[in-house]
Amino acid sequence: MPSAHCSITKGPIGVFDSGYGGLTILREILKAMPQYDYLYLGDNARTPYGTRSFEVVYEFTLQAVRFLFEQGCHLVILACNTASAKALRSIQQNDLPKLAPQRRVLGVIRPTVEAVGEISKSRHVGIMATPGTIRSHTYELELAKLWPDIKVTGEACPMWVPLVENEEYDSPGADYFVRQRIESLLRRDPLIDSVILGCTHYPLLLGKIRQYMPEGVHIIEQGHYVAQSLKDYLMRHPEMANRLIEGGTVRFLTTEQAEAFQSKAAVFMGEQLEAERVHIG
Ligand code: DGL
Repeated sequence: MPSAHCSITKGPIGVFDSGYGGLTILREILKAMPQYDYLYLGDNARTPYGTRSFEVVYEFTLQAVRFLFEQGCHLVILACNTASAKALRSIQQNDLPKLAPQRRVLGVIRPTVEAVGEISKSRHVGIMATPGTIRSHTYELELAKLWPDIKVTGEACPMWVPLVENEEYDSPGADYFVRQRIESLLRRDPLIDSVILGCTHYPLLLGKIRQYMPEGVHIIEQGHYVAQSLKDYLMRHPEMANRLIEGGTVRFLTTEQAEAFQSKAAVFMGEQLEAERVHIG
């Protein structure tokens, strides 16, 4: 008789972003759970996703998820708000049941939404994100489900990702765009007391964001909350935790040239790293 316990090949946790932004999430996950193996994939050849249509972001994200499954990942984190907003639900509901019913794909929006309700006192919250994330209204929908008393105002910041991707986040030119969007958001709702940085690239602009955000407004970075939520998920799902390799290694894959990835990723991770180029399309 076949054994009830068929052996499963364990795998790393997949972490996906359109480019470098997801590294700000990986950094926090590594702090919270250094024991696991991780496989980071940046679709740098096709970044940014923030200005692309629903169909394209969904198609690219599904390609990435399939690729990470093929690499042995049982669990994939979409460390990208744009992909979480535009593709996660379809992948979870329509693709996973056919593709790999035992595997899981999680996003970054839900853990952030859970956190903000505990932080905001005025119940007026701002979201700063890519045009794609703002247009999807995913934050509004998720906030309305969990915290219906919160009033949400979304501000699209189309220039912020290009500033980060082009290493201009510290330049005097960045001040203009950071200040412009913060002022616009707070003009639209002056009662905002908490602002979600709803894009994984934005922590690199934190210095300038702090400079122009009025004192007393909480700036919510996602990494910490995503990491804590993942830790909690793995505690509640030992069947998934048992499928993860505990080797403490991190591998970096990119769809662009490895050299370009390595030099920029070092800025996000605060250390030198090795990357490999892959084709996922
Ligand atoms: N890092 C992605 C996010 O969190 C955005 C980058 C992009 O536009 O591709 O939304």
